[in-house]
Amino acid sequence: MNIVVVSPEKFGNTAADIVQRVTENTEAPNITFPTGDSPLPLYRELVNRYQHGKLSLANVQAFGLDEWGELEPGHPIRCISRMKTQLYSETDIPVEQIYYLEPNTDDLDVHCEAYDKRIADMGGLTLSILGIGINGHIGFNEPGSKATVRTRKIQLADRTLNVSQKYGFDKTPSWGVTLGLATLLESKEILILATGAHKAEIVHLTVNGPETSDVPSSLMRRHPNCTLLLDEAAAQLLKK
Ligand code: GLP
Repeated sequence: MNIVVVSPEKFGNTAADIVQRVTENTEAPNITFPTGDSPLPLYRELVNRYQHGKLSLANVQAFGLDEWGELEPGHPIRCISRMKTQLYSETDIPVEQIYYLEPNTDDLDVHCEAYDKRIADMGGLTLSILGIGINGHIGFNEPGSKATVRTRKIQLADRTLNVSQKYGFDKTPSWGVTLGLATLLESKEILILATGAHKAEIVHLTVNGPETSDVPSSLMRRHPNCTLLLDEAAAQLLKK
């Protein structure tokens, strides 16, 4: 794992440089985009660069990383709704190049399998942009998820349900759908984003703890081209 620590002011710029390098060096990059607070500085910077004519995302094939169950299509807390507001609608990613997981599907297993197959048929993921949950989850791959799991429905962990109160749910969904760790680990490149002192402990475990499915983020260490981008607060428990 390549660990990069920057000030909060430089966080968005550093992440955006990585995304821009991938978009400029790849004909049609397949990129996963997470929601949550961690990627917001990145999305603000990508929108800023696009608005100033310094960046185009027109060649990007955008894949949603995960989605809440039990919310109707168009619900503002849905990951796809937030991705549209925070990035997709603010840049030039063509609508037909945006893919996402739809939990309200008759046969969710078939839908998840088709999502993985689409990614495989398109040559696999070029760049997986990821956050880290407070319990080490990646997407919604909660503790206990093995490195071999594929895209699927999953029950959300209690700690995830507690943290997700910040989104203002009327009733917090008990399950979600997530890209699987195996699909993410097959990505050519991985960029994990973590900010803030509340992430320091899980960042420490991710980097220095045992490589275990109890902490799914620790499994990403086995990837040969994985960058963990931290601000100083999130990095405070790491050895110099
Ligand atoms: C959420 C999402 C993840 C996200 C993570 C961290 O529950 N399912 O995709 O990366 O938790 O969120 P945040 O960046 O807000 O801490």
